[in-house]
Amino acid sequence: MAAVGRVCVNARMILHVFICLFAAAKSDEQVPLVAWASDGFVLSPVNAPSAGHTVSMDELESYLNTALSATPHNLLLFLQDKLSVDDFTMYGGVFGNKQDSVFQNLEAALVPSSSLWLPSVSSSAAALVPTLLQNQIDAAPLYMNPETLAQLRLNASVAALLVFRLPYSGGADMMSTKEVLSGNDEVIGQVLSIMKAQSVPYTAVFTALWPSRVVEEASPAVQSVWSRSLLQSRRDELPAPNPPLEFKEKGSTCILMWAEKLVVSQYRSGKWERHDLTSQTFGKGVEPNLSGSSCNDTHSRLVLNYEDVLNFRSFKLLLVMNRRHYKVSARHWFTMDLVQLEYDGKKASFNGSRHIYAPSEYSYRCESVSSSYYAQLSPHSDKDNANDWQISFENFQIQGFNVAGKDFSYASDCASFFTPGIWMGLVTSLLMVLVLTYGLHMIMQLRTMDRFDDPKGPAISVPQTE
Ligand SMILES: *[C@@H]1O[C@H](CO)[C@@H](O)[C@H](O)[C@H]1NC(C)=O
Ligand SMILES: *[C@@H]1O[C@H](CO)[C@@H](O)[C@H](O)[C@H]1NC(C)=O
Ligand SMILES: *[C@@H]1O[C@H](CO)[C@@H](O)[C@H](O)[C@H]1NC(C)=O
Ligand SMILES: *[C@@H]1O[C@H](CO)[C@@H](O)[C@H](O)[C@H]1NC(C)=O
Repeated sequence: MAAVGRVCVNARMILHVFICLFAAAKSDEQVPLVAWASDGFVLSPVNAPSAGHTVSMDELESYLNTALSATPHNLLLFLQDKLSVDDFTMYGGVFGNKQDSVFQNLEAALVPSSSLWLPSVSSSAAALVPTLLQNQIDAAPLYMNPETLAQLRLNASVAALLVFRLPYSGGADMMSTKEVLSGNDEVIGQVLSIMKAQSVPYTAVFTALWPSRVVEEASPAVQSVWSRSLLQSRRDELPAPNPPLEFKEKGSTCILMWAEKLVVSQYRSGKWERHDLTSQTFGKGVEPNLSGSSCNDTHSRLVLNYEDVLNFRSFKLLLVMNRRHYKVSARHWFTMDLVQLEYDGKKASFNGSRHIYAPSEYSYRCESVSSSYYAQLSPHSDKDNANDWQISFENFQIQGFNVAGKDFSYASDCASFFTPGIWMGLVTSLLMVLVLTYGLHMIMQLRTMDRFDDPKGPAISVPQTE
């Protein structure tokens, strides 16, 4: 048994080490927070932080104190296990169709002008939201679910803090995450309609304890890091990468695009013919013909005109981005709605809007963007020639809105899903499994040593002491 005991002690020590590691990793993770009040009440405006700034505990306390100063003292806190701004884009009907949104009740409750939206609150501050709200009204939190709420008689003149914990299922199973979020939105809807039925005005806050995805950056607290371009840091590492391609309208740059490699291929007579466009597009002294490009506040179109590509006399690559306001996230996002090849008048069109998007202040970056199966670019329709073409960008970065100068803004990275936090989680799980297996193995060894109980085995010889 001593061996088993030792295994347990080891397991606990390893667990402890990992809890410490997690605590350290947690410190620079961010979650969104949104607050609103029932009909007829308005949250006092706060000086919202600039995009990219992570709200600290002290700042959050002051924002909440200001915003909730004139709202009802029946507080509802919807505390989800995990949530990131990306969840709003991925599941929030961002792609045009409001019916698709899993946040329908939340969207219905939010009036942008009278709610508070903080896209990036440090998760250690968000974990203290129950305490901060408790301080506002001086009442202990009641942990509830909608069934218990329906039975409770609320009194509008008695302050209360009702906390609803909501689950989040992360990981690879996108479908189940969507269902869980949709179920959570149902809960929010039920709670709000119970409040309405009892005619109790309320103030509500929706946030999470942990981010569901971790945005990778050096130090979000340092404002200057945000404005520094990813490309610049790349410049430090690589010998002499090409500068980004710039499209200027009326003298100022409005589209930036960069890729380490840009290749198009056409399927002809049984095989793929490749053409590498990199050296015709990027590089010192290379000035691609951008005729046909345009940009304004809501629409950016980058047209690259080439000659003699794969024997086509005129060959165009078109990238179209649109910027829209999405109510649920109370901010502008851009999506890459169209990537099109035009060759001797024929077209091959791809749609990237499901995967290529970012807050419009940011640039979008991805290690690999391509039109192969399950990648970001999907053929637009079967009618054009997209199935005969492939297009791939390596280390792609693009920005079509809010461009300031020659450098990219902070990049929203497509790979943010597999970040150190997640890897650490995976490694931890693996280690736990190893430790458990080891423990089990030790226990099983102990069992096999117990051979004296075997009736068929040799008899036990006990030394006679009489
Ligand atoms: C609400 O609470 C106040 C103060 O405690 C009390 O006077 C009032 O009767 C209560 N109202 C209801 C509907 O219970
Ligand atoms: C640029 O491309 C357009 C369209 O393909 C063409 O009409 C124009 O002549 C080109 N300009 C130059 C300078 O080659
Ligand atoms: C921006 O450009 C697009 C396409 O050229 C046009 O349809 C749209 O009306 C323009 N928007 C503004 C605000 O000028
Ligand atoms: C791209 O795909 C999305 C989602 O499938 C769709 O809503 C959108 O209309 C498509 N874009 C274009 C330009 O067809």
